[in-house]
Parts: sequence; structure tokens; C-alpha cells
Amino acid sequence: MQTLFVTGGAGFIGSALVRLLLAESDWQVVNIDKLTYAGNLESLAELKDDGRHVFVQADIADRAAMDALFARYQPRGVIHLAAESHVDRSILGPAEFVQTNIVGTYVLLEAARSYWASLGEEARGGFRFHHVSTDEVFGSLGREGFFAETTAYDPRSPYSSSKAASDHLVRAWHHTYGLPVVVTNCSNNYGPYQFPEKLIPLMVLNALAGKPLPIYGRGDNVRDWLYVDDHAQALRLVFERGQAGATYCIGGNAERTNLDVVDRLCALLDELRPRAVGSYAELKTFVADRPGHDQRYAIDAGYIRRELGWTPRESFDSGLRRTVAWYLDNPLWVDHVQSGEYRRWVQQNYSERQQ
Ligand code: NAD
Ligand code: DAU
Repeated sequence: MQTLFVTGGAGFIGSALVRLLLAESDWQVVNIDKLTYAGNLESLAELKDDGRHVFVQADIADRAAMDALFARYQPRGVIHLAAESHVDRSILGPAEFVQTNIVGTYVLLEAARSYWASLGEEARGGFRFHHVSTDEVFGSLGREGFFAETTAYDPRSPYSSSKAASDHLVRAWHHTYGLPVVVTNCSNNYGPYQFPEKLIPLMVLNALAGKPLPIYGRGDNVRDWLYVDDHAQALRLVFERGQAGATYCIGGNAERTNLDVVDRLCALLDELRPRAVGSYAELKTFVADRPGHDQRYAIDAGYIRRELGWTPRESFDSGLRRTVAWYLDNPLWVDHVQSGEYRRWVQQNYSERQQ
């Protein structure tokens, strides 16, 4: 059995990736996560008794802990997702973003490099450090055009600039030290288990609670939406078959304005959980814009399609319907997130497996 590390595996995308790897591959997964507010082991409840999933609560910026994990588990590689991920939080408090996204990635790179240098030649060639990044590093598009692997970096928020810095570090460790890295830059993900600070789950849960649906500015900013399981499939493919040193842009080819997204969500909720009177759309509220709000993101995913044969399976309509249905069908997960109970669940269910 071969082992790989997933960092941030208790988060939204990381947990989708861990569930996929356990269901569809033979990898043993060592899931390294600090369990910040965004880490939720209830999202991995179905794997609680699966011996191929080893959960370790640790900070990627803790060099001694990272060295000990590499020495103990001798992984074939790392898929690195651990990060502070929310733009609004980065505007309010950038320090954690610098610490985890930049310093944490640097520490993880150094621990990986030191372990990798100790391997025999064949194992060194097969090793991969896969850095999971975002399309936000490219800045903001006007009405035309797409981001692609060759697009120049132009990050604008504390979050995106911290991710850009980490991308540069990862590529520098390849060019300078020969560490076999791959980088992926992906567009906006949505789907089950997403923390309700992000647009789609926030709108669903606010609507169900009869609260206002806060739309920043005019609601005409555009995002390119990708169902999270499609991203997880792409990550597995790139980790297993990607070219060392290469970058792959991943996107859903599903551009929507925020207003379109909210209107579609309201229509789905009207159908699946009608209000006693009226439509959820009546809760839409235009609020002050996000400072420095990027206008449009859109990905040209042609390279990963041609090189690795990846395309998304889910359309935006089918993915959004599945997502809304999931939030309606999982009130306990939602309730535990909203009440903070999910943080106690870790102690009750996973404490004996932590290091
Ligand atoms: P998330 O916020 O849901 O999860 C992040 C996870 O990282 C959490 O489980 C958290 O506990 C963990 N973590 C944070 N700091 C840590 C530290 N110092 N050490 C160890 N673990 C730590 O994030 P997400 O939305 O799942 O995003 C995962 C990755 O994918 C991030 O790197 C993000 O930049 C990138 N990304 C996200 C999107 C998106 O739309 N959500 C799109 C493209 C790329
Ligand atoms: O593009 C990839 C990025 O997508 C990831 O790297 C980030 O980790 C992820 O958080 C996401 O960033 P966004 O800022 O695009 O996502 P968010 O869900 O915060 O917002 C989506 C859009 O909706 C954005 O234009 C801001 C707007 N918005 C968001 C919230 C939370 C609102 O209008 N109202 C809101 O309440």
C-alpha cells in the first residue's frame, strides 16, 4: 500500500478529495490538518473506521511535526490544500493568511525537500509535491478573455497575494532544488460540506432561516463555478499523472454573475422547500461591495483536457441542484456547523487517532 499526504483534508475540497481517494484508489491517506474553524472531521465521518485514512492534527508551519510525519510514513507525495481560504476574512485579518499560506507552505516545502533528498534515485523521480492553488492569483478579467497557464500573476487581495506567494515558492523549489512539483490553479468550487461563509452555502442557509441574502455591490461580478467532486478528480489525475514542473488550470466553464447564482438558488429552494408565502428571491439585499472586489474570473481548461483528458462531469445546473438537495438533506451537519458542535465531535470521535 502506497501512502500520500493530504494537507487540509478536513476542509471543503480536501475532504472531497480524501473521500474520493478512499473510495476509488488504493492510496493510504495521511490527512494533516490543524482543524481551524474551517476544518470539520464530521465531513469525513464515513471514514472514521477506515484503516487507510490516518488523521493527524498538526500545523503545516510546525517543522518538527512535519519532519516526524515524513520520517514515519515515507509518502510517495503530498497534495497540499491546507490554507486560509476566505477572501473576506483575509481583508479583515491578513496575518493568518501570511502565516499559513506563505510561511506554512515554505515549512512544508523544506520538510518535503529534506525527506525527498534522502530517497533513492527512483523514489526521488516518482515523488510529487502537488500545490493546490487558485485562479485568483491572476487578478481580474474584463468582459473578454480567460486565465490560462501562461497568464501573468496580478493578485489583488491579501488572500490571493498570499496564494501567489506560495505558488512562487513552490515553483522556486522546483527550479532551484529540483523538487518534483505540480501546481494547479482552480476556479470557484461549490458542493456539499462547504463552510457557510462562501456565497452558495451562505445564501442557502440564510434563505432557509428567512434572513437577508447579502449581494455585494450590483451582483454583476462573475465567477466560473466548478462542482467540488470534479475538482477532486482533477487533483487525483494531476497528482498521479502530471508532469513534474507543470501547471494545470482547472475550471468549470460555467460563468455566472453572482445575481444569476442567487436567483437560481432561490428558484431551486422555491421548488424543493417552498416558503409558506412568496419566493426566497424577496430576501435578496444589495449591500456594500467587497473592497477591491475582482470583477470576473474565467478559466481556459484546455491544457488539462488535452494533456490528461480531464473534463467536468457535472453541469452548473445539475451540480447546484445536488448541492441544494444536500444541504436540505443534511440538517445535522448544518446544525453542528452553525452551533459549533462540530468542534466537539473531533474530541469524541477522533482523539484516540490523533498524534
Ligand atoms: P477550507 O477553508 O474549506 O479548508 C482549509 C483546511 O485547511 C481546513 O481544514 C483547515 O483546518 C486547514 N488548515 C488551515 N490552516 C492550516 C495549517 N496551518 N495547518 C494545517 N491545516 C490547516 O478551504 P477549501 O475551500 O477546501 O480550499 C482548499 C485549498 O484549495 C486552499 O488551498 C484554497 O486556496 C484552494 N482553492 C479553493 C477554491 C475554492 O473555491 N474553495 C478554489 C481554488 C483553490
Ligand atoms: O476563484 C477561486 C476562489 O473562490 C478560491 O480561491 C477561494 O478560496 C474561494 O473562497 C472563492 O473566492 P471568492 O471570493 O470568489 O468566493 P466567495 O464565495 O467568497 O464569493 C463569491 C462571489 O460572491 C464574490 O464575487 C463575492 C460575492 N459574495 C460573497 C459573499 C460571501 C456576495 O455577493 N455576498 C456574500 O455574502
